[in-house]
Amino acid sequence: MAIIMDGKATSAKVRADLAQKTIEFKEKYGYAPGLAVIIVGEDPASQIYVRNKKKACEEVGYNSFEYALPEKTTEEELLKLIDELNSDKKVHGILVQSPTPRHIDEKKIQLAIRPEKDVDAFHPVNVGKIMIGDYDFVPCTPAGITELLDEYGIETCGKSCVVIGRSDIVGKPMAMLMLHKNCTVTVCHSRTPDVAKVTKEADIVISAVGKADFVKGDMIKEGAVVIDVGMNRNSQGKLCGDVVYDECEKKAAYITPVPGGVGPMTITMLMKNTLKSAQLFAEK
Ligand code: GUN
Repeated sequence: MAIIMDGKATSAKVRADLAQKTIEFKEKYGYAPGLAVIIVGEDPASQIYVRNKKKACEEVGYNSFEYALPEKTTEEELLKLIDELNSDKKVHGILVQSPTPRHIDEKKIQLAIRPEKDVDAFHPVNVGKIMIGDYDFVPCTPAGITELLDEYGIETCGKSCVVIGRSDIVGKPMAMLMLHKNCTVTVCHSRTPDVAKVTKEADIVISAVGKADFVKGDMIKEGAVVIDVGMNRNSQGKLCGDVVYDECEKKAAYITPVPGGVGPMTITMLMKNTLKSAQLFAEK
């Protein structure tokens, strides 16, 4: 029986801490941290994410500035708005909800956001800073996972960690963070011939594949830590992760459920990055 790593409870604890730190921040500097969230178009899933980000800002005491732009917004118009927000003193974090409509080049958008306000940590400057281990912001999902590992006192030094998935947002920065936590890190991906051979040896398995039932019980070592980043729908339309939970839970020492594991941590980490940004701005 694995210990369940409760993302909801951990997230609530971090948010309470951020709310307290925000009170202190406001007393000291006389203003609140501010997060600008831009959404282009009407993707329903993105609208829910944006709403939740706004709610999180209210919960911890930040100002939130929402820009819901029509689908036909041009890249030029979006870049102009980003430029204005880059020099707006009330705004400490800027986020453009992904995916954007196809006529907008997301790479260009990521480059346009000032690295000091890039609370997603997508700008190459911030990506590079993560690489050298000297960073202010970490992308929200990997940050949420390290927060959970710390919360549950998981020893990482000298442990073997397998990250499944090599995306820019999760897999790659996750691997780098685990390297900074002194793990021996392996990254598996779609061209890895035998993922199970690698995961069977791992002390920590982090799956960010996006395929239901990808990580099965026989792929996991007894006593492993299993982190499930997946957000999939199974054949019945039910939300599930990448991990066959019932099988892995019997062998793992720690496991994150879906829902209620990594998911609740991500927006909270965005809040953490935003306060960090405001603090750096205030202390400049
Ligand atoms: N869409 C889904 N997740 C994210 C995220 O973490 N940041 C941004 N900007 N867009 C997203």
